[in-house]
Amino acid sequence: QTLSERTVKALADYILSGKVSKIVVMTGAGISTSAGIPDFRSPETGLYANLARLNLPYAEAVFDIAYFRENPEPFYALAHELYPGKFRPTVTHSFIRLLYDKGLLLKLFTQNIDCLEREAGVPDDKIVEAHGSFARQSCIDCTRPYPREDIERHINAKEIPRCPVCKGLVKPEIVFFGEQLPAAFFENRTLPMQADLCIVLGTSLSVQPFASLPGMIRESTPRLLINKERVGGLGSGTDDVLLLEDCDSGVRKLAKACGWLEELEALWSK
Ligand code: OAD
Ligand code: ZN
Repeated sequence: QTLSERTVKALADYILSGKVSKIVVMTGAGISTSAGIPDFRSPETGLYANLARLNLPYAEAVFDIAYFRENPEPFYALAHELYPGKFRPTVTHSFIRLLYDKGLLLKLFTQNIDCLEREAGVPDDKIVEAHGSFARQSCIDCTRPYPREDIERHINAKEIPRCPVCKGLVKPEIVFFGEQLPAAFFENRTLPMQADLCIVLGTSLSVQPFASLPGMIRESTPRLLINKERVGGLGSGTDDVLLLEDCDSGVRKLAKACGWLEELEALWSK
């Protein structure tokens, strides 16, 4: 056993003991809901519950590569709403930045495509965007990169961009169902084995292979889950701490217990 108790206080004592320098953070859509971006699976407010207007055969089709080839409109309708640039990082994003500033962040694995962790100042080489992002786009047929200004112009005008060379569909490099995750995910997949603390935030852990990451953490390493619901079997480890609540309030509790709350609020309100 590493923690004296499975509480935030004991976790803070562990962090402040000097024994922690390699925190692995794993995030999902729940860390961005307070920024105004819906998550996917929350029953009333999630994206998948609100896609009726797009006439999809099933909700996840909007991110399915085979469906997109035939019907790119629903994805582009959604892209129009979700395109980065309209949203501000949450205090949870700033908390991850704070861990980086303190030299404690080994890696952030995110499933999110909103780029808010970068915007909060977490450097590129600390982030594994497991499901890709809106940062780049390319032709799904000839794979040629497509310029950012051009996709932005098309998305704003509610048009569907096409490759100037082969006329194939252009798609942001978001990982769709039926597509391989980026190489960076597989290159870093075993990194959690080196962690001395794991923090899981705002994800239902329902999509593989991302959902397998918390299981890579060593038995003796504490894992903290901050999420509205219990997920992924977290809580079963001897040093698992659960905060089943809003991410922003949960990270504030941990920051407070570490004596970092003012610093966190200052970083966030910058
Ligand atoms: P989900 O929508 O599946 O899960 C979000 C989780 O966050 C749920 O457990 C919510 O209860 C919780 N949650 C929501 N708001 C919260 C808040 N403010 N505080 C704390 N918890 C909150 O989203 P992901 O797990 O990210 O893939 O979904 C995984 C993948 O499925 C996504 O990357 C996406 C989707 O299909 C692709 O698009 C390829
Ligand atoms: Zn092409």
